[in-house]
Amino acid sequence: MMYKFAVFGNPIKHSLSPNIHTQFAQQTGFEVSYDKILAPIDDFSSSAQEFINQGANGFNITVPFKLDAFKFANEFTLNAKTAGAVNTIKIEQDKIIGENTDGIGLVNDLTHNLGIELKDKVILILGAGGTTQGILLSLLKQQPNRVMIANRTTAKAIKLAKDFAELGKTCGFGLDKVKHNSVDIIINATSASLDGKMPDIAYGVANDAICYDLMYGKQTPFMDWATTNHSSMISDGLGMLVEQAATSFEFWTGVKPNAKQVLSNLRR
Ligand code: ATR
Repeated sequence: MMYKFAVFGNPIKHSLSPNIHTQFAQQTGFEVSYDKILAPIDDFSSSAQEFINQGANGFNITVPFKLDAFKFANEFTLNAKTAGAVNTIKIEQDKIIGENTDGIGLVNDLTHNLGIELKDKVILILGAGGTTQGILLSLLKQQPNRVMIANRTTAKAIKLAKDFAELGKTCGFGLDKVKHNSVDIIINATSASLDGKMPDIAYGVANDAICYDLMYGKQTPFMDWATTNHSSMISDGLGMLVEQAATSFEFWTGVKPNAKQVLSNLRR
């Protein structure tokens, strides 16, 4: 069987997804075509529908279309429903199934590639936007001691913490309230890195914590901050990108590719 996949985004030129999925195809022996599609900002759905009409089996969705993709799908996995956003779509006859593999991708990178056990850990997430909403379910499933959400706009952090309180111990507060806590892992899920900025938090909190930026492709101000504040480990989000892609590939084909091998190829 020949699979027809793509990734939708805007911009999309620098996407690594075709490279990653081509490597997965080589590993697993599937025949795969994987394109990059630049959808117009205001018309994701026409682009997506056109690709489906061409015989697509599935596609990935990146910035800024994850909410559009959520509206476009007509069935959802629990991950997608909880995240309120879709980064993977699978086509089955009339079914447009929305999935979200970002949270699993992050957890798999932390646990498999970086060797970090999340059970009983104290996790601090910076940011309370769509990205944070997308990773909370997967993180809480790992049974951390607690997940603290700190956001510039305090009310959004409090709301997210409440929304997920049934799934584990959560709390939300303002970035200005981040103190020198005993935090094991700090995850930067703000979009501040995109603007070359560091979320404005109190000095000293990184001591001995693992610092993870969901961004990849360049050293971010958060990673610089982690370096000067003596964190125990620093990572960008490249491993999460590869792991979310691996989970998408498995969702489409039923076969799990070797993400670790692709990650090490990309890091070379
Ligand atoms: P995404 O889908 O990437 O999460 P979003 O929903 O727009 O995008 O959320 C962006 C997040 O980054 C928010 O938590 C935002 O804080 P506010 O809720 O206060 O707007 C955060 N953010 C963006 N720029 C930031 C900055 N310079 N400092 C701190 N937080 C920032």
